Amino acid sequence: MSKSIVATPGPHIARRMERVSSFLAMDVLSAAAAKERRGDSVIHMEVGQPSAPAPRAVREAVKAALDLGRIGYTEALGIAPLRERIARHYRETYGVSIAPERVVVTTGSSAGFVLAFLSLFDAGQRVAITAPGYPAYRNILEALDIEPATIPLAKADGWIMTADAIEKAHAEKPLHGILAMSPANPSGTMIGRAALAALGETCRRLGLWFVSDEIYHGLTYGEPASTALTSDDDAVVINSFSKYYCMTGWRIGWIVVPERLVRPIERLAQNLYISPPYLSQVAALAAFDAVDEREAIKAGYARNRALLLEELPRIGITDMHPVDGAFYIYADVARYTNDSIAFCKRMLEETGIAATPGLDFDPIEGAHYLRLSFAGSENDCRETVQRLKGWLK
Ligand SMILES: Cc1ncc(COP(=O)(O)O)c(C=O)c1O
Repeated sequence: MSKSIVATPGPHIARRMERVSSFLAMDVLSAAAAKERRGDSVIHMEVGQPSAPAPRAVREAVKAALDLGRIGYTEALGIAPLRERIARHYRETYGVSIAPERVVVTTGSSAGFVLAFLSLFDAGQRVAITAPGYPAYRNILEALDIEPATIPLAKADGWIMTADAIEKAHAEKPLHGILAMSPANPSGTMIGRAALAALGETCRRLGLWFVSDEIYHGLTYGEPASTALTSDDDAVVINSFSKYYCMTGWRIGWIVVPERLVRPIERLAQNLYISPPYLSQVAALAAFDAVDEREAIKAGYARNRALLLEELPRIGITDMHPVDGAFYIYADVARYTNDSIAFCKRMLEETGIAATPGLDFDPIEGAHYLRLSFAGSENDCRETVQRLKGWLK
């Protein structure tokens, strides 16, 4: 029994909570807010959220719905027009036909993970995730007593999860599923169509669930992203309105699941959440048509990306993952530190730049990485370069 459990008076907290760590990006956010309360200027490069508001059409649709007055529960799987609209999105964007009944509307992709993991995996089963990778995967799996099996990513593999690595990990100790992400947080790398198809084929052959986090789709700077559904109709696809649609605070997302999972997930959703929030569903429905506004915001990210990729190497941050998509730079800062938490703390204190320590994404190599989000303004990116110049020695 661990020390902190023993030390608390009264009934002890569940042991699994010892394995659930905090989200360092959110801890940096709190430290940055405290610095701002002291009157200091802070540039927020730590949190992965668009600084732009939700598109105007979204806000108008919600105002109209509010005026109608009644905000009630909906069906647990979401309102039918939204599920149909999401199915149409797959047809129009990827040329993939899915029945609207396979779409589950969720309270952000975060709730989608809980629904997916609970319905796919039993306690103790193993699911492959990557390092670096999105930290909540590990923590949600741990909270559900499912074992994360970490696959370290390699430069030689283009920083992506490969079919070969899955095959090898499964041979060493059996997996029950994999969780792939493209474009990726924090690296910004994308799994190309062929590599995604190879992952799907490997999962089918080995009898593994293929969960694909596609939350950064729409935010790519070259080739568009492919959905796992193109090559694998049995994949469980997770997506959200948080990033490309600029709707983090609306807490709305979706998953696409094979038909045999719909009813089990419906039973879970009914019991865990009753339904996703009605107003956010109205908002999400309107978000699909706001293409021009979304693309204008993305063009801003593209400018920020170009600026940072050009300027950071000039001030001493030279080793970065390629940024195919999303809005992050994940940089190796080994020449400055081997303790990214202390480094980011000092950077915040001395320059007012809030960045996320790599240890959030990779418990080993992350000690010498940091992540900068460029989802804010171009001015913020310029100011970041200015302030770091001279500080990085
Ligand atoms: C890769 C990835 N997946 C999922 C999420 C969760 O997003 P949300 O719950 O807002 O949909 C995030 C948030 O940063 C993310 O980066």
